[in-house]
Amino acid sequence: MQIAVGIITISDRASRGLYDDLGGPALKQAAMGYGWSVLAEALVPDEVREIQRAIREQINRGCHLILTTGGTGVALRDVTPEAVRAIAVRELPGFGEIMRSESMKITRNAILSRNLAAVVDQSLVICLPGKPSGAVECLGFVVGAIPHCVEVLREVPTSC
Ligand code: MTE
Repeated sequence: MQIAVGIITISDRASRGLYDDLGGPALKQAAMGYGWSVLAEALVPDEVREIQRAIREQINRGCHLILTTGGTGVALRDVTPEAVRAIAVRELPGFGEIMRSESMKITRNAILSRNLAAVVDQSLVICLPGKPSGAVECLGFVVGAIPHCVEVLREVPTSC
């Protein structure tokens, strides 16, 4: 099936125009490279309500997979995991485990990232770090499981 993707950049500074959003475009390019179609893009500050609203809006627009970048770290303004968990029906811990363990081979700061994946309604939401290269790297570590996960959530008949 064709995977419809939404991308959300979560950053106080980028949303205020203090710097350009590089993470969203980097993820868009990666998503298109995987053959997915990008249906929606958003840029929001590190605010729980705004993050949740953007996710719901993209789900309503038909996104099967939502990729967020930013707000996964230790700063007090980093609230992406809390925002997503509060509206999720379940978390998929394997995604965060693999993203962190593989990223530790690249940077010791990877342990600071609270990357995660969760199911919201029938969509898969994957929360990636804010650094554009880190977001693309982390997506690459888990990409193999995404098509099957999306198909199961959409109740598309699958072979396993
Ligand atoms: N993971 C990968 N693969 N590559 C990276 O460069 N950067 C780390 C980490 N995960 C990084 C990574 C850093 S520096 C931080 S602070 C955390 O992700 C959290 O990022 P965030 O708060 O911008 O989401």
